[in-house]
Amino acid sequence: MSEQQSQPSNMNSNGTSGNGHRNGGNGNGGNGNGKGEQPETQASPPPINPFAPRFAQIVGWGCHVPEKVITNFDLEKIVDTQDEWIRSRTGIEERHVAASPSETSATLGIQAAKAALEVADIHPSKVDLIICATSSPEHIFPSTASIIQDGLGATNAGAFDLSAACSGFVYGLSMARGHILAGDAEYVLVIGAETLSRIVDWTDRGTCVLFGDGAGAVLVAASDVPGGIIASVLGSDGSGADLLTVPAGGSALPSSLETVSSGGHYIKMDGSAVFRFATRVMAGATRQVLGKAGLGVEDVDLVIPHQANVRIIQNSVLKQLKIPEEKVFINLQKYGNTSTASIPIALCEAIEAGKIHPGNNLVFVGFGAGLTWASCAIKWSVPVAKPDETWWRNTARQATYQAAAARSMWKRAIRRVYSQFPAESRWGGRKEENELS
Ligand code: ACO
Repeated sequence: MSEQQSQPSNMNSNGTSGNGHRNGGNGNGGNGNGKGEQPETQASPPPINPFAPRFAQIVGWGCHVPEKVITNFDLEKIVDTQDEWIRSRTGIEERHVAASPSETSATLGIQAAKAALEVADIHPSKVDLIICATSSPEHIFPSTASIIQDGLGATNAGAFDLSAACSGFVYGLSMARGHILAGDAEYVLVIGAETLSRIVDWTDRGTCVLFGDGAGAVLVAASDVPGGIIASVLGSDGSGADLLTVPAGGSALPSSLETVSSGGHYIKMDGSAVFRFATRVMAGATRQVLGKAGLGVEDVDLVIPHQANVRIIQNSVLKQLKIPEEKVFINLQKYGNTSTASIPIALCEAIEAGKIHPGNNLVFVGFGAGLTWASCAIKWSVPVAKPDETWWRNTARQATYQAAAARSMWKRAIRRVYSQFPAESRWGGRKEENELS
């Protein structure tokens, strides 16, 4: 951790390391135990003092988007649309698309998560929980979060996917805060990862111009520095479930020749209805979370809204709440709507642009299919400078991830070998007993 990063302005003094985490960064850029070998299971952490103040701070952030960019002009060649229409109706100019089969929601999520761990200078083995919010998971199961956990070598982490469409990342922050404040976790990775281009109907001009691919991640840490994620609001109205949906491929309408030939596995949306809903809930959810946090609209330094359509942001956050333009971060012109990834990608760019400083009050607010909405208020309390990059830190990090890949391959190989033997000879005892265990 750099010197600059190790002195948050409002840090208290009861044992917190400088970056705002309770345990601090691992500092050696290695595996956290300082011995060059990663433990398979973590040593028991010291017991938690239930009376010590505990806060959930964002201490790391990162994002990753695929290389291929599709502009509005490119789309003009695919569907009956015009750059002028897309720009004026949505604000979008271009989007990144996962063109290579090796770019999936998990691989994008892994890259974003690695970047977040790098900023926090935390070894993957210290992560307790991985929450991956996604609208385009790799599979119905296993979870994309589990695949990310394996890719990171986060051997001590639980992992699950969170389905709340574009509101998912803010839902995930709320879950992370809950786990940390309850004392169940010290470090939680919250990831939004999408390859929506794989479930978009590229012949439907009403949807294909809107979406993009990418991933963003934050590391939320237990801290005794006051602030962090201070309040959240979660909402749902399932009566609008049919307004934005991927109808087929789940248990209600399992995949069949018919569902595939009728395009039931693609995104279907009533754009105008979603637009009206979004405009209404964005302002309401922002007001509600500020009320919970004991803040007024005038106290907000920066709003990072879900990046779906610039007109939704203008009609809600800017007009209804009268928050000035310079306090609302917008980058959807470059990425389109990346669903769960839109807010963490925007957070990374806002930090890069020097828009976030310790002491700032932030609001994240999103909406999406479900219908769902979510907001959270954050008192940003950690420095935004990245740790100094050294060859040692870099080499140790590469070694960590190579070890994770080797461990994963080894475990798969062992399972393949075991599968060659009948159950009795593997474990001894009666076959029936083994099948029950
Ligand atoms: N190019 C040119 N014309 C188009 C296009 C296009 N890409 N798409 C629609 N049109 C046409 C329509 O056919 C319609 O033509 P018509 O009047 O001859 O019938 C006309 O443009 C106007 O269509 P509307 O749907 O009324 O346009 P609107 O101003 O509502 O904009 C849009 C459509 C951009 C989809 C808007 O409704 C919107 O952004 N809705 C919210 C969508 C959203 O945010 N979804 C994501 C939610 S997050 C999640 O969970 C994934």
